[in-house]
Amino acid sequence: MTTDMIDSKPSRLNPIRDSKNRIKLGVFGINGNGAALTLHPDRYQCTWDSNLRLAEMAEELGFEAFVSAAHWKSFGGDGHYSGDLMETFTWAGAVAAVTKRIGIISTLHVTLIHPVFAAKAEATVDLISNGRAGMNLVLGWNPPDLQVFGVELKGHDARFEVGEEWMEIFDRLWEGKESFDYRGKYFDIKGAYNQPRGIQTRPALLNAGRSARGREFAAKHCDIAFVSAHDPAPEAIKKQVDACRSEASTKFGKDIQIWMSAYVVLKDTTKEAQEYVHDYVVTQGDDAAVQNILNNSEIDTTKLSPEAASKQSFSLKAGFYGYPLVGDPDHVAELFKNLSDAGVDGFLLTWLDYEGGLARFGRELLPRLEKAGLRAPFIEMV
Ligand SMILES: Cc1cc2nc3c(=O)[nH]c(=O)nc-3n(C[C@H](O)[C@H](O)[C@H](O)COP(=O)(O)O)c2cc1C
Repeated sequence: MTTDMIDSKPSRLNPIRDSKNRIKLGVFGINGNGAALTLHPDRYQCTWDSNLRLAEMAEELGFEAFVSAAHWKSFGGDGHYSGDLMETFTWAGAVAAVTKRIGIISTLHVTLIHPVFAAKAEATVDLISNGRAGMNLVLGWNPPDLQVFGVELKGHDARFEVGEEWMEIFDRLWEGKESFDYRGKYFDIKGAYNQPRGIQTRPALLNAGRSARGREFAAKHCDIAFVSAHDPAPEAIKKQVDACRSEASTKFGKDIQIWMSAYVVLKDTTKEAQEYVHDYVVTQGDDAAVQNILNNSEIDTTKLSPEAASKQSFSLKAGFYGYPLVGDPDHVAELFKNLSDAGVDGFLLTWLDYEGGLARFGRELLPRLEKAGLRAPFIEMV
């Protein structure tokens, strides 16, 4: 089948990819449990109403991205709050219908979600949002997420082999030039074709792999790669950023954006902010969920020193290994500046109390970031 009638699409601006802000901002994990593993009463409770309020606030503040997380099983067993996570394409379609400007990212496991389904679902979100759709491609690391589908977690390299085939199929479907058969090691497809067509030339693609293989996958296929906060020193972050950028440009001739995930705790004083984190992480942390995650993870925690193990558990509970943007407004603005100087282009932010946290961020942080030349006051893109 040929589709001469519909195969040329105008290129258009994407709220995430084409933002000129030196620091781009996204809200992450609002379709579910956020990023903190804690029983603290301020923790985020996902409802559709809270999503509506957060989407409206994030748009008014000029944030570039509204980003979902994807899991299929709670971290703490049946009935646990971390399982209350809305499906990400359904969520994205609804968010698209009630927003006008922000980029909407569906996170999906490429080892579970067939590319033919993903292309159709993403095109649908792209049509509803008038070209603001994107995807965060995750390969899967938590066996229970896959086992509910009867799928066992593949070895690390094999997951990325699936990812390579998936990406080739998705790109051909999205390009939509002609119907095709595909026979690979993991996919066998007859007469693949995607209708309806999306609006963008290609949706904005994110991948957060930090292994050498993950970084290569992000550099090859995605618009946004992520660096880790494992060593939060700006020089260490810069080293990671430089490595990602240079891999994208030397191997694949591409510019790529480099983002980080970060949790924000903003209080009047840095001491107060640190005490608040200590309370929700150490006093009221959800240790059972953390233990389940660590038991399922490929990191052999028995090889870690007690100090390293406790640091890891703290970072997991505080904001799923995100960078700690913790302190008074001047201190947090300074952290943003340092990370921007290290080359970080954007942040996926999480809070404990998303609504109060995002509102305060808008009041106290954004003016400081604007003053520092890191963001311009929001102007609608045309
Ligand atoms: C910001 C961010 C968001 C992520 N979101 C999810 C998610 O929603 N679901 C999931 O299963 N994995 C998620 N991951 C995990 C990564 O996609 C990836 O599996 C992990 O970093 C391991 O890749 P690697 O082996 O290349 O380091 C996320 C990671 C980051 C940093």
